[in-house]
Amino acid sequence: MKAYRASVLYFAPHSEGPVRAVLEEDGLLVVGPNAAGTQVVQAVGPYRDLASQYPGVAVQYWPGRIIAPGFVDLHVHYPQTNVIGSPAEGLLPWLENYTFPEEKRFVAPEYSAQAATFFVAELLRNGVTTALAFATSHPQSVNALFTEAQTQNMRLVTGLCLMDRHAPADLLNQPSAYGRVDATEQSLLDSETLIQRWHGQGRLGYAITPRFAPTCTDAQLRGAGQLAAQYPDVWIQSHVAENKDEITWARELFPQSRSYLATYDDFGLMRKRAVYAHCIHFDDDDRALMRDTGAAAAISPTSNLFLGSGFFDYAGADRVGFQYGLASDVGGGTSFSPFHTMLGAYYVGREGQTKQGLSLSPQHLWWQHTAGAARALGLDGSQGQPAVGNLLPGCEADFVVLNPQATPLLARKTARAANLDELLFSMIVLGDDRLIERTVISQAI
Ligand code: GUN
Ligand code: ZN
Repeated sequence: MKAYRASVLYFAPHSEGPVRAVLEEDGLLVVGPNAAGTQVVQAVGPYRDLASQYPGVAVQYWPGRIIAPGFVDLHVHYPQTNVIGSPAEGLLPWLENYTFPEEKRFVAPEYSAQAATFFVAELLRNGVTTALAFATSHPQSVNALFTEAQTQNMRLVTGLCLMDRHAPADLLNQPSAYGRVDATEQSLLDSETLIQRWHGQGRLGYAITPRFAPTCTDAQLRGAGQLAAQYPDVWIQSHVAENKDEITWARELFPQSRSYLATYDDFGLMRKRAVYAHCIHFDDDDRALMRDTGAAAAISPTSNLFLGSGFFDYAGADRVGFQYGLASDVGGGTSFSPFHTMLGAYYVGREGQTKQGLSLSPQHLWWQHTAGAARALGLDGSQGQPAVGNLLPGCEADFVVLNPQATPLLARKTARAANLDELLFSMIVLGDDRLIERTVISQAI
């Protein structure tokens, strides 16, 4: 067992009602192994009450620092690190001119490996301890990312990008050697092989990953849905309703479905543990479909602002009541930093709202990138695995140590915070990787 003394930020248990963050000013976080040998939070609370209950446990003291839950990035593309900051008129030209050419490089295992090493280090440097990530359509890119995440013991979910049409030929899924099995069938066989190799290995999880409906044939989406039914505890990830041109295209390709989102449902791809990026241009039937199936939205404000995609409708999501969390969507997104993403979400949330909705409070913004995103992933402790994104007893011990003095302006501003909301908002607005003094990942014992 180990204990850490500092201010400790966590979220009170909640099912209904507003999210409530707690800051234990002089707090103690005690971590130790659970029955499965995973390091989890054993206790959290005031130092003065807890310290005497753990005699003999070494205490690491970080005066002036804040221990907070590691961030959860609900949607990010590891092959797009080099694509950040590539301007385009919109999503489709951006994919064609910048993203697809870069993703082709991941055919080379060494290229994938160095990109994975950089990507995981960059997530950790920014305080992200759990990620749901896209790889490319090359199995070697998936293996490279899992291998690196396993080395770091990071909680990471990824999968083979399924696309068997409407992309450059050398980026489509490939048939088997000698062409005995076609590309569509092979992409599904490869997905299953990868599930068996990686899903549930330590802290790793597999996500069935149709890139988006326009680059998948009916047969591929059908096969992906069958795989999802066969492996109910793997994740599903894709994109939906991000951009008007994309939607027009998806509607032309799947006219029999009620909406773009409904296409995924028609192929059995909506359920718990299904995470759809963007979800901007929805109607209330789409929102109800998200709610009723238990699927979740990954909101990527910096990406949506950068690519001019639109504004996620927080009021609509909260009115109908479906789950969501925050995501960087690098490289459409412009930053790995959860602080930049939370600030982007604040800007987006203000759009179209005359009064400040609940989702815009600093506590709720922070929750959307930690415990809320974990809940959207089913990693809130309700589905047979320890929770992430919070520091309540039983949660996996992934946390960040924040230094509110990291820059002169942060020091000046945070010192003047009169309450927790003001403190959190100062860090959301002024924070970046400099605020993350260290990132601590739960270790297997
Ligand atoms: N839709 C399909 N592929 C992508 C992608 O790589 N990024 C974004 N933002 N949207 C997509
Ligand atoms: Zn994306």
